[in-house]
Amino acid sequence: MPPSPSKPVRIAVTGAAGNIGYALLFRLASGALLGPDQPLILHLLEIPQALPALSGVAMELTDCAFPLLRDLKLSDQASQAFDGVDYAFLVGSRPRTQGMERKDLLRVNAEIFKAQGRALNERASRQVRILVVGNPANTNALIASRNAPDLAEHQFSSMMRLDHNRTLSLLSERSRIPVADIHRVTVWGNHSSTQFPDIEQALIADRPALEQIDSTWYHDTLIPTVQQRGAAIIKARGASSAASAASAALDHMRDWIVGTPKGTWTSMGIAANGDYGVEPGIFFGYPVECQGGGHQIVQGLALSEFARAKIALTDRELREERDGVLDLLPSSSRG
Ligand code: NAD
Ligand code: LMR
Repeated sequence: MPPSPSKPVRIAVTGAAGNIGYALLFRLASGALLGPDQPLILHLLEIPQALPALSGVAMELTDCAFPLLRDLKLSDQASQAFDGVDYAFLVGSRPRTQGMERKDLLRVNAEIFKAQGRALNERASRQVRILVVGNPANTNALIASRNAPDLAEHQFSSMMRLDHNRTLSLLSERSRIPVADIHRVTVWGNHSSTQFPDIEQALIADRPALEQIDSTWYHDTLIPTVQQRGAAIIKARGASSAASAASAALDHMRDWIVGTPKGTWTSMGIAANGDYGVEPGIFFGYPVECQGGGHQIVQGLALSEFARAKIALTDRELREERDGVLDLLPSSSRG
């Protein structure tokens, strides 16, 4: 449910002095997440070395005189930054650079999400909703969630929305139908090159996408283009996607809070429960409907053999990632 407008909501952003942070904070403060009537307080977390840069970002936020922005809290301590927060965007981590596979990032960033999971567990609102953007996002979400035993698994999510939006845009360009008329796209699995952008259920202007899009283009162009888009942007920009990632993070959190339009769905990384044969526990991109502030996996989709094989592949990669961080996953069950 959207919050009541009378009281400011508290929104944490980690890595707030980074590139995604810079693209995200000004949109949050202008009301892009919760609309023009909802005041907010931003809680910004950075590492100590980045605090001077963060203070500059804070000056700029102040200089915008955003009517909704009631306060800014800057910290290099997760326990302070997450105090009482209603929403948390976990962005801060080391980004992938050219030639680096996401897997290489796993151990580098895993410790961050262990510590932040613990701090969220101790200090965040009991209803907090958490989106992990920092890569490898799915496994970082798993680490944070498992280190927060007093919060529910469904309060954690990882970002597949950038991949989802990329798929929508490519379909729109190909079909010449606006994005708003394209529905029921899913990006399954890991936010990595094994992800599966699936248009088998998709509707373009209310007609099955596969009746309008030739399968060669789907298999040979759409799927690899979406899978490799992050790497293509790093190559072209010399830096990881930032504005589009921030935009996708807002889309993800807004749909979660406000709900997905009836009859359609979005893609979110959430804790798997075995649905569609996926290993329980890993954070997996699923087709998800959001309603009343919650989310649930769309049930009963008839998957082709092709889709099942692709889902199995990305499932396997996520199980391998999980196995690489088992020492950071407390085995105790939730409180
Ligand atoms: P960036 O290097 O510009 O910024 C990251 C910031 O995080 C830096 O300011 C750094 O000081 C900070 N940071 C590092 N460790 C921290 C910690 N322990 N606590 C708080 N802050 C910390 O990187 P960016 O371009 O903003 O990207 C951030 C992350 O998002 C990267 O991991 C990147 O790969 C990922 N990303 C994910 C998606 C997605 O779709 N899931 C898309 C794009 C980028
Ligand atoms: C993206 O999809 O643009 C990023 O996640 C790329 C990356 O690996 O940092």
